[in-house]
Amino acid sequence: MITIQIKKLRKEFVNQQDRFVAVDDVSFQLKSGKVLALLGPNGAGKTTIVQMIAGYLQPTSGEIMIDDVALTPKNRQQFPMGVVFGGELGFYGNATAKDNLVFFANLKKIPRKQLHEEVDRVLDLVELANVKNKRVNEFSRGMRQRLHIARALLNRPKIILLDEPTNGLDVEMARHIRELVKALAEREQIAILLTSHMMSEIEFLSDRILLIGAGKIYHEGTVESIIQLSGVKAIDRPATLEESYLALAEQLKRR
Ligand SMILES: Nc1ncnc2c1ncn2[C@@H]1O[C@H](COP(=O)(O)OP(=O)(O)OP(=O)(O)O)[C@@H](O)[C@H]1O
Ligand SMILES: [Mg+2]
Repeated sequence: MITIQIKKLRKEFVNQQDRFVAVDDVSFQLKSGKVLALLGPNGAGKTTIVQMIAGYLQPTSGEIMIDDVALTPKNRQQFPMGVVFGGELGFYGNATAKDNLVFFANLKKIPRKQLHEEVDRVLDLVELANVKNKRVNEFSRGMRQRLHIARALLNRPKIILLDEPTNGLDVEMARHIRELVKALAEREQIAILLTSHMMSEIEFLSDRILLIGAGKIYHEGTVESIIQLSGVKAIDRPATLEESYLALAEQLKRR
């Protein structure tokens, strides 16, 4: 069991003239076997939070603790995380999918004897085994996104950070990836932090939700607690997360 504690995390982006507070006093916990979702409008600070936990951005202040050890740039390697930000970058376009993953498997210090087996395992999980010898330049957006997910799964990290993991995937593949994420949490007891704009994805996957607005935590709880907080009531059926979120959305925006 791992507990990741995020304590009073803050990120200021400084330009010549002004300081912009992107993330402000954010504290929460992430635990093995659980999926925590960050939900909030564009620009709320979700990606910035994930990037600080991943070590891609240095917090202005605050701490990230893993089982009572404070993460530093030096000790970070002892706590490997699988990280998915997606997007066009991150792979060698002229190399095949398999060769790209072999490169990352080497960086993750996977022993030579297990390397090819491990690469094939993660390619299988995201259903790219049949195109593993295709160059990444020739991949569609969804194939590339699945390759990002495969890379994150290399060497079975105990913590996985997913920033809009099903962005750009077709309906069937999005469903497949969601089921994979759920299985990683439930069967392999991985701690998962997720951002998503898809309410059905959040409802399906998350144990708890952090509502983020203007860099701050507005509310933490279950889907039901957000529905209650919103006060939205539907006739003859329970209110949905989407209806409740929409009722709260105005209050989550930056002013
Ligand atoms: N490198 C940067 N320099 C200056 N401002 C930045 C930088 N990165 C992010 N920001 C600002 O920080 C705020 C939070 O951005 P972030 O990308 O974390 O939002 P988000 O919640 O992930 O939004 P989205 O839902 O659109 O992905 C935004 O106002 C953004 O413009
Ligand atoms: Mg984002």
